[in-house]
Amino acid sequence: MTEKIKTGVIGLDQVLKGGLRKNSSTLITGAPGTGKTILALQFIYYGAKKYNENGIFIAAEDSLSDLRKNAKNLGMNFEDMEKKGKIFLIEKPLATLKGGIMSIKGLLNLIKKKDIKRIALDSLIFFEYLYPRSNHNKMEFRRHVLLFIQHMKKAGVTFMTVSGRTVTDLDRLEYGMMDFVFEGFIILSRIRKGSYFERVLTVAKIRGQDHSLDIYPVMINDKKGLRVLYDQIPFSLVEKEETEEKFK
Ligand SMILES: Nc1ncnc2c1ncn2[C@@H]1O[C@H](COP(=O)(O)OP(=O)(O)O)[C@@H](O)[C@H]1O
Ligand SMILES: [Mg+2]
Repeated sequence: MTEKIKTGVIGLDQVLKGGLRKNSSTLITGAPGTGKTILALQFIYYGAKKYNENGIFIAAEDSLSDLRKNAKNLGMNFEDMEKKGKIFLIEKPLATLKGGIMSIKGLLNLIKKKDIKRIALDSLIFFEYLYPRSNHNKMEFRRHVLLFIQHMKKAGVTFMTVSGRTVTDLDRLEYGMMDFVFEGFIILSRIRKGSYFERVLTVAKIRGQDHSLDIYPVMINDKKGLRVLYDQIPFSLVEKEETEEKFK
């Protein structure tokens, strides 16, 4: 039996039939505003708070002060956990990345010293900063990401990465090379119903693990954060049945 850890995201652990495999790597992908950053923040925050697993959140898209503020509105007090030495927020401005692999050494030291068990990276853009020259060389970029995943595995952490994508219509998803280097692949999206969009989540793949293939509604609420309604089906997908009911 492989050991599983709870993500700390309400509903997601039910969808994953117990959680993520310990020491695995997962990619969270979706369009802007679908909740990727919030999901990754919750993975780190509740991992430390509820499951006593220290974590690092590496931010390449938002400033740390914005993240702390937004997290607070969603019911997470990062400052408190940072003060306790259980969570580390790292910002990666271009200037500090000159060292390339050297800065990964720094990260590995921090993992050891602070007994880190979870790392979230928001987002894959981080690697474009880290290795600007491989920007135009996809194979080189992929190699760097793979290497990083291997480092995380060796260091014994459970690793979550965020990446954006343009096409997120669940029926016509386009897959990129990056989608295959992670063991897990979770998609956040929106489905239109009339004049509004409904948030949804689906697990596309978890290598070597059983999981549900259904599409689930997702809620993001002030003070509460993101949760997956694992025992419901999206409104937007039952509309047809409902209309048929009415005319019976
Ligand atoms: N305090 C809040 N209350 C309700 N919804 C929020 C709150 N904060 C953020 N959101 C929702 O979450 C979305 C942003 O989620 P985020 O994880 O930053 O998206 P992504 O990283 O996928 O671009 C916002 O567009 C907003 O709809
Ligand atoms: Mg984001």
